[in-house]
Amino acid sequence: MLKCMDLARLREAVDAHRAAGRRIGLVPTMGNLHAGHLALVKQARAECDVVVATIYVNPLQFGENEDLADYPRTLEDDLVALDRDHTDIVFMPDDQTMYPRGLEVQTKVEVPALGNILCGRSRPGHFVGVTTVVARLFNMVGPEVAFFGKKDYQQLMIIRRMVDDLAMPVSIVGVEIARDADGLALSSRNRYLDPEQRRAAPELYRTLRWVSDQLAAGRRDWVDLEDQARTRLTELGFEPDYVSIRRSADLEVPDHGDRDLVVLAAARLGVARLIDNVEMGV
Ligand code: PAJ
Repeated sequence: MLKCMDLARLREAVDAHRAAGRRIGLVPTMGNLHAGHLALVKQARAECDVVVATIYVNPLQFGENEDLADYPRTLEDDLVALDRDHTDIVFMPDDQTMYPRGLEVQTKVEVPALGNILCGRSRPGHFVGVTTVVARLFNMVGPEVAFFGKKDYQQLMIIRRMVDDLAMPVSIVGVEIARDADGLALSSRNRYLDPEQRRAAPELYRTLRWVSDQLAAGRRDWVDLEDQARTRLTELGFEPDYVSIRRSADLEVPDHGDRDLVVLAAARLGVARLIDNVEMGV
């Protein structure tokens, strides 16, 4: 496994693979890898000849009061895990490599409508940070395919839209959510939960499943359902940011006849902000 921090070294390695006609897959991460990230690596391994993973805690996507300084950094363990899952190249740029002129004057990529709803409303600037870093990583690596988790469903939709709007020559693959045995979606932020909160945390997924069961049973009163789910989460000790039933294709509010839906939620539990979603065809 080649570990590089330097763009020239990365390009040299990737160019050699490309010249040999190999299909290059990219898995962007912020490190602190768990089985969810590694599911992306495994899928990339299955679909591509060369797997490039990136580890970069992107300051541009963190708000001022968010957890940039505390975000867990576990580089040595991450490298062991990536090597075990047969990653070919790990790119670990520093801030100077990623944003040589500084964050303030960095050219940004914005996906307007999709970026301002749901998580974008409570995290202004977050998705601009995500699309900017992902666009830059695409240009640095030049992958044929890039892999993103459905855990961050809105992020996945925004990246698909960016690629489409800017005609980027990359295929985007969405990978299913990896969960703990009790249903909690794996996340680096789960480590902010104390034992009691950890016991309550799977209720987020259970609540989304309850909403999706109600939809499957024919309910179409989206607003009442969302309210009931929010109330339930509040009673269980969460501070819900939103519970929202959307069209899975474009995250618009569904019409009565829409069948392909996704139920998304974000809620704080203690200091941890948890997100989850359930996709469904009804
Ligand atoms: P990060 O939170 O490290 O996640 C990296 C990738 O792993 C994302 O595509 C995310 O959706 C996926 N992932 C995380 N938990 C998952 C789970 N439980 N099941 C399936 N996939 C999961 O998302 C980011 O980093 C950043 O925003 C990034 C795209 C790297 C840009 O900085």
